[in-house]
Amino acid sequence: MPDAATDALKTLETEGLAELRACADEAALRAWNTKYFGDKGLMKAAFGKIGGVPKDQRAAYGQEANRVKLALESAHQIKLAEEKEKKLQASLTANPLDVTLPGRFRPRGRLHPATQILRQISGIFADMGFQVYRTREVETDAMNFEALNMPAHHPARDMWDTFFTTTPGVLLRTHTSPGQIHVMRETHPKPIRVILPGMCYRNEAISTRSEIQFHQVEGLAIGAGITMADLKGTITAFARRMFGPERQVRIRSSYFPFTEPSIEVDIDWPKEDPNRDRLTKGTGWLEIMGAGMVHPHVLRAGGYDPAEVTGFAFGMGPQRMLMLRHAVDDIRLFWQNDLRFLRQF
Ligand code: PHE
Repeated sequence: MPDAATDALKTLETEGLAELRACADEAALRAWNTKYFGDKGLMKAAFGKIGGVPKDQRAAYGQEANRVKLALESAHQIKLAEEKEKKLQASLTANPLDVTLPGRFRPRGRLHPATQILRQISGIFADMGFQVYRTREVETDAMNFEALNMPAHHPARDMWDTFFTTTPGVLLRTHTSPGQIHVMRETHPKPIRVILPGMCYRNEAISTRSEIQFHQVEGLAIGAGITMADLKGTITAFARRMFGPERQVRIRSSYFPFTEPSIEVDIDWPKEDPNRDRLTKGTGWLEIMGAGMVHPHVLRAGGYDPAEVTGFAFGMGPQRMLMLRHAVDDIRLFWQNDLRFLRQF
């Protein structure tokens, strides 16, 4: 037999559901929730009335109150979820995002092949205890030639076609060898073990084989009792790290005014390389650097006493090594900055 108290529960349910349907946004839903389920809410009040219900109807009233509570709660959950979905759809229409579009291409940069090989060379020599030194590209005649045992009018100057500046006695260095003098003057009287990587300039006709600018890596070791055997050992160790563990090193007599004796160094080229004949002009040997024992005049120009110390020096061309390793047949490609070329490294 439904009585007044149970009827009130039914009304609560009907009104609650109607008010819920009328809620237009999340804020209204929150207010609704406070009204029905807050501490001073209608549901709590309805449960509070249980004491006034006649004893024999209390159980039925309690059951009905619980049913209404669950009905309102679940209706609220559903409405809340609908409201959230509506909000999401609205924001998706306001800021349309097509997730099926392909992503935007971000080009990835990389190091220039010249930088790569310079780092590799520096790494190999660093493992052998050589420090890296940098010296200037604009030099004086005194450093580029005179201190290297080439006084004015020395015929050997013709080995380097030079860019002179409009200031007398100032030029673009034709090789990294003047760096030897800078290092010696800064380091004397201590022993030296350095490499000097850097750009050099020569006034040459540009062709597939010669550029007016190119890198060199100079090497210099000064100390008591350094011999040609140390030079050979250093170069052999370098060549094997750079070109493979089987490489043979061949030394030929040569001439540089700043080394005595002077040598040129060849390595044997792998027999299995199909480019071997072309790269080595049929000999199987390939020149990788000029080198020698530092001339006493040069030691003196650097402040060292040739009676106390000796030393070796070498100079190599990393662009040449790159050309060999990757069978690049035109040296001009290195500074043209054509991405189609650079991307291959
Ligand atoms: N500077 C020489 C050149 O440019 C190379 C070299 C360096 C030779 C050091 C001997 C010692 O050709």
